Amino acid sequence: MAERARVRLEPWGEGDLPLLRRLMGDPAMTEHLGGPESEEKLTERQGRYERIGGTGTGRMFKIVDEATGEPAGSVGYWEKDWRDTTVYETGWSVLPEFQGRGMAGEATQQAIDSARDERKHRYLHAFPSVENAPSNAICRKLGFELLEECDFEFPPGHHMRCNDWRLDLFAAG
Ligand SMILES: CC(C)(COP(=O)(O)OP(=O)(O)OC[C@H]1O[C@@H](n2cnc3c(N)ncnc32)[C@H](O)[C@@H]1OP(=O)(O)O)[C@@H](O)C(=O)NCCC(=O)NCCS
Repeated sequence: MAERARVRLEPWGEGDLPLLRRLMGDPAMTEHLGGPESEEKLTERQGRYERIGGTGTGRMFKIVDEATGEPAGSVGYWEKDWRDTTVYETGWSVLPEFQGRGMAGEATQQAIDSARDERKHRYLHAFPSVENAPSNAICRKLGFELLEECDFEFPPGHHMRCNDWRLDLFAAG
């Protein structure tokens, strides 16, 4: 059996724009996320990621490979108005050279623990495209409940069929 990856999360930092470019500015990495973002959009996103921890409305983290200290991806959660309530939404992204080693699942579990420790919102949702097999597998593995399929327009003009997965952060166990 392959050795399981070890990762740690660090708050998203000022120097992390090159990592963000490789995640959200890359056609293959954004296949299920509406395509690569422009440099302008990436800079806006970088600013949001840097600031969110100070706003009390979520967290964004850099995933770091414990073995080498190299940046491997991103994971985080942020507030979203959903079905008449405020929930947390989560999302993750792991660079190609680190994929297939359990890193995204492990990093997302750590982000879940962070959101749970806040005791702020009961529900954490994830909305992977129905075609994103690894992300749907991660949701299932980490104990999310599949509620339904729904349509999203993101970015504007791009329609996606997504699964609505929900985790109860207040549930015992
Ligand atoms: C989705 C993504 C983060 C997965 O990263 P990863 O580190 O390879 O993921 P993990 O190794 O933690 O877990 C992937 C799981 O999916 C499973 N999986 C992978 N490909 C699969 C497939 N085609 N069908 C079913 N399951 C699959 C793996 O077996 C693994 O489950 P396991 O740990 O129970 O064996 C990575 O592919 C990525 O960054 N993609 C681009 C960005 C993106 O789409 N983000 C998601 C937005 S919701």
